[in-house]
Amino acid sequence: MLKIYIITPFPDFLVPVLQQSMFKKSVERNKVEYNIINLFDFLDDKDSRIDDYPYGGGEGMIMKAKPIFRAFDSVGLSNPRVIFPTPDGELFNQKMAFDLSKEKEIIFICGHYKGIDQRIRNNLVTDEVSIGDYVLTNGEIPSLVMIDSIMRLIPGVLNDYKSAEKDSFSEDLLDGPHYTRPKEYKGLKVPDILLSGNHVKIKEWFLKKRIDKTSSKRKDLFEKYKSKNSGDKNE
Ligand code: 6GU
Repeated sequence: MLKIYIITPFPDFLVPVLQQSMFKKSVERNKVEYNIINLFDFLDDKDSRIDDYPYGGGEGMIMKAKPIFRAFDSVGLSNPRVIFPTPDGELFNQKMAFDLSKEKEIIFICGHYKGIDQRIRNNLVTDEVSIGDYVLTNGEIPSLVMIDSIMRLIPGVLNDYKSAEKDSFSEDLLDGPHYTRPKEYKGLKVPDILLSGNHVKIKEWFLKKRIDKTSSKRKDLFEKYKSKNSGDKNE
């Protein structure tokens, strides 16, 4: 059971999403628990903002350290993984998702405004993670993105765990094309090979499609794939 804690000033951003689809199933299947911690519950009366102006000047508001420290302490974990989603973090990838899927406790701290007091990053956060080279307004969406990719790798969450192993990225190749019924719709046909019943040929065809797609869309992955698969059969 993976226990996930999300410290956020906007719980409503997360609650409806975590009640849908695979997030919901991951809870029903007793594989994951989601605990949403409302940052506004950790303000005291005379200290009634979660953000303040930056010392030294500059634009934008900074999230204060104290409510986040207090929210963190309320979770009461001694040595959790603490993820801070931020565009200046390390780039998230499938390997990180896989490693995190083996953890027992993960805390996400969702940032807003210009950033958070650096003392949180220096003293609580274990992983600063970005989901891509673009900027978002909040940490909730990146947290959901990461949580989705982590929880689906926990055995027993997906109906067919094998399909996670075949995912794009897990073998340095993008996924190939998939079809289902009907065989033809508005003149658009399913490739004959898939209806042939020749499983060896189908496997070869699918691998070729994956290789072609990877080499045209993701040269970086393709080079990795080639260097790992440059055995005698390719000579
Ligand atoms: Cl993790 N946070 C924000 N605010 N923007 C991002 C991001 C994270 N990853 C990419 N852009």
